[in-house]
Amino acid sequence: MSTATAHPNIALAKYWGKRDERLILPATGSLSMTLDVFPTTTTVSLTDADEDSVVLDGETLTSDEAARVTTVLDLVREASGRREYAAVSSTNTVPTAAGLASSAAAFAALATAAADAYGLSADGALLSRLARRGSGSACRSIFGGLVRWNAGDSDDTSFAEPLAWAGPDLGMVVAVVSSARKSVSSREAMRRTIATSPYFPAWVESNAALLEQMSIAVDAGDFTLLGELTEQSALRMHASMFGAVPPVRYLTAASIALFDAVGELRASGLECYATADAGPNVKVLCRADDAQAVSNRLAEIVPNAEYRVAHTGTGARLVEEEAE
Ligand code: DP6
Repeated sequence: MSTATAHPNIALAKYWGKRDERLILPATGSLSMTLDVFPTTTTVSLTDADEDSVVLDGETLTSDEAARVTTVLDLVREASGRREYAAVSSTNTVPTAAGLASSAAAFAALATAAADAYGLSADGALLSRLARRGSGSACRSIFGGLVRWNAGDSDDTSFAEPLAWAGPDLGMVVAVVSSARKSVSSREAMRRTIATSPYFPAWVESNAALLEQMSIAVDAGDFTLLGELTEQSALRMHASMFGAVPPVRYLTAASIALFDAVGELRASGLECYATADAGPNVKVLCRADDAQAVSNRLAEIVPNAEYRVAHTGTGARLVEEEAE
């Protein structure tokens, strides 16, 4: 029995669209910040049952709901040469599927716990590739701090790596405007954007270029450039979705109000930048030293949201079992 914990990550340069749906190879690379809040803890035990079982927050998933977990377990079984089925139990501390990256933490914890349970000796790159097969963004939660997912062009070459950030300590204010489950999954929304949005090719081309600029900003520790590119990547991603038929519109009036409020804070000299994923919640990148002030000021301008201050967190890791 092996237990691992992992944190969500928020993409600064987004991943949106796959070039290979089965292998989860992304259309472009991406770059994220791992948070120190909302961890997921996952335990994997080998069983003599005749199928895998998956319990999420106390509820047993159907085999359809558990399909992505089974995919990752199959890969770990194949790599380790073992055949036993597993009992998986996972606890989220963040609302599931509300665009708060719960699946990223979950699959990073699953890959880490499963590799250990099956005795597979896996380095960070292999764990990242395994997590990727559950959910693309999960490959980045294997590592802490700032992380770049290199798109690659095959299963072997598509994985994340940690980056050295030379700038000020980073903060991220998470503004939760809704914890409702999203109406369209990001997987489905990506498919629709690729199939129907005339802006998808422009998104891919511009985001690949943006990622290179952002990597230079990370090397240089340039917080302003990092932040400006963060907002650009988010808005361009959502623009590509707006162009889909029917449109995919995750941002609500409350999300837009938060983007406006972030602009106001910046104009007043408090430097921060907004981003949003497959849901209406907004995440605000700032210097760690400013995070509480950003949260307080946003709460004054947009009171109808819940705020949580986060910083950079650690990557996925095994948790020692308490002696029975
Ligand atoms: C908007 O990683 O959840 O959060 O690979 O289909 O499981 P699948 O998608 P997922 O998509 C994340 C999209 C995003 C941007 C990002 O995290 O880069």
